[in-house]
Amino acid sequence: KGNATPEHVRLQQRLVQQLPRAIIIGVRKGGTRALLEMLNLHPAVVKASQEIHFFDNDQNYARGIDWYRGKMPFSFPHQITIEKSPAYFITEEVPERIFKMNSSIKLLVIVREPTTRAVSDYTQVLEGKERKNKTYHKFEELAVDGATCEVNTKYKAVRTSIYTKHLERWLNFFPAEQFHVVDGDRLIADPLPELQLVERFLDLPARISQYNLYFNATRGFYCLRFNVVFNKCLAGSKGRTHPDVDAAVVDKLQRFFHPFNRKFYQITGRTFNWP
Ligand code: A3P
Repeated sequence: KGNATPEHVRLQQRLVQQLPRAIIIGVRKGGTRALLEMLNLHPAVVKASQEIHFFDNDQNYARGIDWYRGKMPFSFPHQITIEKSPAYFITEEVPERIFKMNSSIKLLVIVREPTTRAVSDYTQVLEGKERKNKTYHKFEELAVDGATCEVNTKYKAVRTSIYTKHLERWLNFFPAEQFHVVDGDRLIADPLPELQLVERFLDLPARISQYNLYFNATRGFYCLRFNVVFNKCLAGSKGRTHPDVDAAVVDKLQRFFHPFNRKFYQITGRTFNWP
């Protein structure tokens, strides 16, 4: 640009597109967008704004690693690039593909209480169907098999919430130390401590502070303050109102998830107060 000083030019010349050194692999509706945006408050973190879907989409994967790198933002060499594509967590082929790119990559998984996450997942799909004037079922009809009255494990929103099943596939490729589990419920209620744990996991100096996060009562969520002039909340599609779900179905699901949750706690070394 015409008004660029020699210092600007010198800095721009040092900008490069770097492959991610950390990936938010999931879980869908866990708070993946909030986590990415909040980590981006850190001066050493640069985010890929879009979900790239490189490792879970065969067509994209066939385009090769240079295509993937080309999707990354420009950054300085000391910065780390992070991308998020929540479909990675549940897609069979992804762990091996990421391992082939970088076997020492850091993997972030953000989870929420599994039944709440399933309802959130349902709510997102429902919104899409309503927009297209398509017919839809109640959550209760999808989550519980009408014939057997058992939890319907074929329903994707239920399957995705069986976190341990997916994580176990990842552990065939990566050791547990390469994962960090973020508590998505706590990221909603009190984000800073969760972000500080991630800073530590990523070996970054603690730079995100309470100044960067303020509660917006109208929005009902924490929003981000980058500096005196720039703050933002997440899009309105983040933080939808969930439908009321029959208490007996909630109870059935919570009982169903319970043994899987216990295994998840064992594997990750992180315990949650899930029912
Ligand atoms: P709900 O819509 O169920 O409330 P993802 O980005 O993975 O799709 O996750 C969406 C969820 O992020 C939302 O689920 C919302 O609760 C949660 N979230 C966490 N922190 C948020 C924030 N600061 N602003 C808006 N949504 C946030």
